[in-house]
Amino acid sequence: MAGNKTFSMIKPNAVKSGHIGHILAHISDAGFRIVALKMTKLSVSQASAFYGIHEGKPFFNSLIEFMYSGPVVTMILEKENAVEEYRKLIGATNPQMAEEGTIRKLYGVDTQTNAVHGSDSDENAFIEANFFFSMRERFGVRGVEMLTDAITQL
Ligand code: CMP
Repeated sequence: MAGNKTFSMIKPNAVKSGHIGHILAHISDAGFRIVALKMTKLSVSQASAFYGIHEGKPFFNSLIEFMYSGPVVTMILEKENAVEEYRKLIGATNPQMAEEGTIRKLYGVDTQTNAVHGSDSDENAFIEANFFFSMRERFGVRGVEMLTDAITQL
């Protein structure tokens, strides 16, 4: 069964161009609930770790340089079948190939500066959400208790 959470990040180009509000409205209007939200700036090592799967590809160095060039907005989104629904909402990786009305078509520039990231599987949504959000940020006191319980089982 498909999960109900996905992870997204508004990339530096869209933040710099003043599109945070537009993109969040688009997400809410499409029926996603924003369950965690954070504006932050990646270090080189954080950007490299987040996109580690692309290491060795020709665009890797330039992608990392871009991703730490300015602040990003990270979020966890909730909706039934969230990963697939969100990927439909953002459109193709290359904004020029994206359908009209999608977030990347509206606010993306090219394949690298494509305005937003969206997880490509439930497993990656889980990994990426945990990369940016602590258990306390996600679940409050219950999150700290869950973590403490897990540690004491070790
Ligand atoms: P994203 O959804 O964040 O996942 C990986 C990112 O790598 C992707 O969006 C693009 O920004 C970037 N990317 C993937 N393919 C290319 C490419 N051919 N050239 C430049 N950037 C790319």
